[in-house]
Amino acid sequence: MDNRPIGVFDSGLGGLTAERELERLLPNESIIYFGDTGRVPYGTKSPQTVTAYARQAVAFLKSKGVKAILAACGTVSSVGNSAGENSGLPYFNVLSPTVRAAAESTRSKTKRVGVIATPATIRSEAYGKLLMELDATIDVFELATPLLVPTVEAGFTSYDDELVSVVVRRSLEPLLDKEIDTLILGCTHYPIISEAIGKAIGRDVRLINSGKEAAAALSKHLDAADMLHDEGPHERLFYVSDVPQNFSDAAEIFLGHSVEGQKINIEEY
Ligand code: DGL
Repeated sequence: MDNRPIGVFDSGLGGLTAERELERLLPNESIIYFGDTGRVPYGTKSPQTVTAYARQAVAFLKSKGVKAILAACGTVSSVGNSAGENSGLPYFNVLSPTVRAAAESTRSKTKRVGVIATPATIRSEAYGKLLMELDATIDVFELATPLLVPTVEAGFTSYDDELVSVVVRRSLEPLLDKEIDTLILGCTHYPIISEAIGKAIGRDVRLINSGKEAAAALSKHLDAADMLHDEGPHERLFYVSDVPQNFSDAAEIFLGHSVEGQKINIEEY
């Protein structure tokens, strides 16, 4: 048993896709979430900048006494892992669990997998390389979709919003003739608009939610290592690096419970 909180971070709202799954799988856990809303997006920045930001997020979560850290961000998971790997705490990212789920999904089908993610993630080829390591017979089609994060962060998340469907359709166009059977949502923001993505790519393509897969892997690890919280009181706290209102409103809709975002100065960490 370990009653310290789990630390989760992302550039903004995306990590909530992992938070939601953690809350569902591990309802007794205390969780501390940090969304770097003052510096989002990460996906257009250099590996050096993303790593420096991730180091500050890790330092902040450590100052809160967390027992494990989840980088619920595809970009940090692809180009900024040294920040978490050197933290001295159990550190998890979204890459391996996501790739394992995709390989499993495509195994009995066409073995053609698409990956959509931020420009930094796609430039790193992190998902593609790992997929090929797992199964060299898989064809991987990687595509940067830079408009999706700003769309979500601006609050356009509704399935039937015309703007969302136009942005998603235009973004996914290069993948439409690739006959993929599985699509990795390699940025944790994307599952927030997964209905629009599913509609654009075709209903028979299986979408892999990286935040959800990572949360499931973390949950399994904590259970196996006897590090779960007991059934006593727990808390969920949300911190952001800029005005909390937008974040709190969107988070509340997405998580289905009230969320009080607190602003911190991340530059101090
Ligand atoms: N949600 C993040 C990811 O998974 C970051 C997106 C961004 O800030 O550009 O890549």
